[in-house]
Amino acid sequence: MTIDLAALPHDFLWGTATSAYQIEGAVAEDGRSPSIWDTFSHTPGRTDNGDHGDIACDHYHRWREDIDLMRRLGTNAYRLSVAWPRVRPGGDGPVNAKGLDFYDRLVDALLAAGITPSVTLYHWDLPQTLQDRGGWPERATAEHFAAYAAVVAERLGDRVAHWTTLNEPLCSAWIGHLEGLMAPGLTDLTAAVRASYHLLLGHGLAAAAIRAASPRARVGIVNNLSTVHPATDRPEDVAAARRMDGHTNRWWLDPVHGRGFPDDMREVYGVELPERPGDPSVIAAPLDWLGLNYYFPATVADDPAGPVPHARAVRRAGVPRTGMDWEVDAGGIETLLLRLTQEYGARRLYVTENGSAYPDVVRPDGTIDDPARQEYLVQHLAACARAARRGAPLAGYFAWSLLDNFEWAYGYDKRFGLVHVDYATQARTIKGSGHRYADIVRSHRERAAEAA
Ligand code: IFM
Repeated sequence: MTIDLAALPHDFLWGTATSAYQIEGAVAEDGRSPSIWDTFSHTPGRTDNGDHGDIACDHYHRWREDIDLMRRLGTNAYRLSVAWPRVRPGGDGPVNAKGLDFYDRLVDALLAAGITPSVTLYHWDLPQTLQDRGGWPERATAEHFAAYAAVVAERLGDRVAHWTTLNEPLCSAWIGHLEGLMAPGLTDLTAAVRASYHLLLGHGLAAAAIRAASPRARVGIVNNLSTVHPATDRPEDVAAARRMDGHTNRWWLDPVHGRGFPDDMREVYGVELPERPGDPSVIAAPLDWLGLNYYFPATVADDPAGPVPHARAVRRAGVPRTGMDWEVDAGGIETLLLRLTQEYGARRLYVTENGSAYPDVVRPDGTIDDPARQEYLVQHLAACARAARRGAPLAGYFAWSLLDNFEWAYGYDKRFGLVHVDYATQARTIKGSGHRYADIVRSHRERAAEAA
């Protein structure tokens, strides 16, 4: 399969992505406080093998080596997240200088390596102390988030232009508060809906705070979206697909685009939103760009007795799947990029995450060939280029992930990295997919240089 690289702009950002809790380790160092993920992962039965992020990829100590890996891949951008419990261990209150210093050094070193930092402020690691005070179901958490965002933007905003408020608020709200499979591990619809509201309020408040601290900031939000297909053309299944689309996509996109929370989904949830006058326009803060995290499509059937949104995932037979058991459908990324362009009027888009986990085999000579991951990468990049050719204003692609890392409740067995990590030694080895990505990046760069 070929990728239409000519469809991508010359200044395209070719990046990799990670998040703090998944790679940093050093959970009790330099004043960091526990986050909800420390609590969750140390609770028996919550993660596979009882895995946790105490050491993870030890990136807190090995970040220089990791920047060197990015340089070897030839990438010109890196999406990282800042750990709130490192910067403001109490959630609010005193700022921890050592925590901020870490990100300050990281940003300087990235820039020195010619790599544009893209900074996410919340990738799920809420300080536990704020959870103890009610967490995202409480409005105060949104306000504390904006205050923390201001602290980070004041410190890094002279060098960082790319800011993400939230990563995948769907996971924080629905998986963390409704399904109970992520921190804080609740199964409470009212808490989940309230959390979803305050996450988006926090996004809007933080966007304003970032801009106030750094006028050059370009602020966006990152959602994990799916294409949703009805299992059959029965009206009940078509309606279920519409509800699942509301739950997965529209609930997160409509309010930030000034359309409010979708009425049909308010009815499905039946939970009163903690709305106050003025909130809708805060939530609809202008977006400089939108981030799409795409992994898999969904096929659903009506399930009236099941949990909201009363739509049951249907497993399609005979389709390729990754090691996560997620269906592979590269066409979905093209569809979603075009939907964001046409339905939501996006003027700048980034694929902020896309990637696949497969069981890797380290060969006797130490190399890792991962043809399935390479195939996934190439198929999805080709689909991105098709979307760009059809008018999607795609400005960058961030592969998930730079490194194998702590895959949340799945622990360390699921490997998404372009770079293999041997957790016993912390040795890093670029996989075949990493070399493939480097080749693609190089080809695009050469083509752009020729055209210039
Ligand atoms: O590892 C996660 C990441 O933290 C958020 N997006 C999906 C990835 C793969 O599950």
